[in-house]
Amino acid sequence: VLLISMVAILAACGANPSNESQEPTNGSTGETSEPATPEEQTKLVVGTDAAFAPFESLDGEDIVGFDVDLLDAVMEEAGLEYELNNIGWDPIFLSLKDGSIDLAISGITVTEERDQEYDFTRPYFESTHMIAFYEGTDIESANDLEGKIIGVQTATTGQIAAEAIVGELNPNLQLFETTALAFASLKEGNVEAVVTDIAVAAEFVKNNPEDNVKLVSDPENFEAEYYGMMVPEGSELKETLDKALTTIIDNGKYAEIYEKWFGSTPNLETLLE
Ligand code: ARG
Repeated sequence: VLLISMVAILAACGANPSNESQEPTNGSTGETSEPATPEEQTKLVVGTDAAFAPFESLDGEDIVGFDVDLLDAVMEEAGLEYELNNIGWDPIFLSLKDGSIDLAISGITVTEERDQEYDFTRPYFESTHMIAFYEGTDIESANDLEGKIIGVQTATTGQIAAEAIVGELNPNLQLFETTALAFASLKEGNVEAVVTDIAVAAEFVKNNPEDNVKLVSDPENFEAEYYGMMVPEGSELKETLDKALTTIIDNGKYAEIYEKWFGSTPNLETLLE
């Protein structure tokens, strides 16, 4: 993105940033493209995977959710322009590396592994894992996942949590590109249980009131984890975002957004480490 805006600035100044020919590159009409407006030049590009309600999901064309409102409040507080793009889960990690996005918000758990390759803001949400299944399936604790067909979203902490019980490369563990697809498979009866983040499991129950969905948590097997906004390693954005996040946590804006999506007041203590 930085590179793109530099190119745009150079182009606006009439310079040719590449060493290539001077021919217009936008087709054969001979029109030259408009220089980017200043707003476009400074807009941050944010990536998400919008199949993870209530944090981010699609409502028609719009991306909605707790993360979406939180991002908006943080950006407003920081005085930053941005656009939010639904790019998918795996691409979030690649795009932060290749610079095609500036930051990501997507219910992303801060893990030791990720923390080595990316930077995270201060935590903004406490989570843990839950097992969702239909009545008739016998699950009382995470250990009962053994021998069941389990669905998880690939490359998530839910996958790691399930693997910790049933082992890596277990053929009973089915990997889905999105959490929404794992739930669809549960609904169809193709998997017997889904392991995912607590608020996302609760949302599935809420959105399927006719179904007899059960949820089981297991503090012995599933630890607490925390979501952060993720930026490239060394990004100056981290400090700006942290400051804005702290401000909206202190001034009540965070609690307002939390109540809107979760119907309760947040326990801010859990976010203070
Ligand atoms: N919290 C889990 C993780 O970080 C799952 C996040 C999935 N988010 C999403 N938008 N699909 O691995």
